[in-house]
Amino acid sequence: MTRRWTAGLALVLALAGCGGDPADVGAPDRGLVGLAMPTKGSDRWIGDGENMNAQFSLLGYRTSLQYADDDTGVQISQIQQMIDDGAKALVVGAIDGTKLKDVLGKAAAAKIPVISYDRLIRDTPDIAYYATFDNFKVGVMQGTYIVETLRLGRGGGPANIELFAGSADDNNATFFFNGAMSVLTPYIRSGALTVRSGETAFAEVATQRWDGKVAKERMARLLRTTYANQRVNAILSPYDGITRGIIEALREGGYAANALPVLTGQDAEIDSVKLIAGGQQGQTVYKDTRELAKVAVQMVNSLVTGGDPIVNDTKQYNNGVKDVPTFLLQPVTVTKDNYQRVLVDGGYYTAAQISG
Ligand code: GAL
Repeated sequence: MTRRWTAGLALVLALAGCGGDPADVGAPDRGLVGLAMPTKGSDRWIGDGENMNAQFSLLGYRTSLQYADDDTGVQISQIQQMIDDGAKALVVGAIDGTKLKDVLGKAAAAKIPVISYDRLIRDTPDIAYYATFDNFKVGVMQGTYIVETLRLGRGGGPANIELFAGSADDNNATFFFNGAMSVLTPYIRSGALTVRSGETAFAEVATQRWDGKVAKERMARLLRTTYANQRVNAILSPYDGITRGIIEALREGGYAANALPVLTGQDAEIDSVKLIAGGQQGQTVYKDTRELAKVAVQMVNSLVTGGDPIVNDTKQYNNGVKDVPTFLLQPVTVTKDNYQRVLVDGGYYTAAQISG
């Protein structure tokens, strides 16, 4: 996959008559691309924006990269501004995937194609393509890590577990949760896993805006009530920022740093990779945002130059109006055993960033 994309980008660069050198002054001005990202509150989105900026500029595009501080109203005005500025295409990482219908209607009226980036924008015909990772598989990886670490079905357990999900207004959150539950549910049914709080419905375990503080409060409540007299053995968390909130609650609730429950995460954020190296967080799911940026850039460049973007899924993602043609990248599960090889040898982080 990686090799394929590297080759794909090289081809795109060659077709654009651009040697790939940022100093290539002969690169044409291919116009403006609007990049509407949700928040700087998480490292990954900063990386997404930087990676797309760099790759678009190599192809001769100008960009307007905007972050909306997790405020949907701000994101709508930023997109409107990009339309007013004459953007050739928009790449949108939505905050609330259900609230962009009207502004994207205006983009469509101005014939500006929209790429839904990482998160599916819902209830509108006005998105052309979707670039993301295999979101269901992300959840499967988190559930599998829990089952394997507790050695369920192999002499381990029974064990207590609590479930956390992401933001209910983000289409990805249900995919992650359903993926994880596809692995965990048989063990819950057989009694090998018990959700002592009884909170198992997505709506009960969702975490508004993926906010670590919200997750910390819920975990603290569970520790005061359900777990006043017993330990929790595992926690399904969909995202590193939520996991760090949960760890804070656990530590304040008296759990020693070296005796935390089995904990999952996502995004391989640097603060969480440090926790994995130190043995506090067990797992994260790494999604190489450099590759996602390449996919989005390829899609935009094809659309602007009259080609057909490459996709590899046309069935899984219906946004309420249509099946959205999608390119799915593959996530990678990361633990203490492989973070060095995947993240350091893979050039995502330096060893010094992790140990620093
Ligand atoms: C999701 C995204 C995850 C994580 C989360 C919180 O939509 O797919 O990788 O970043 O948002 O930002």
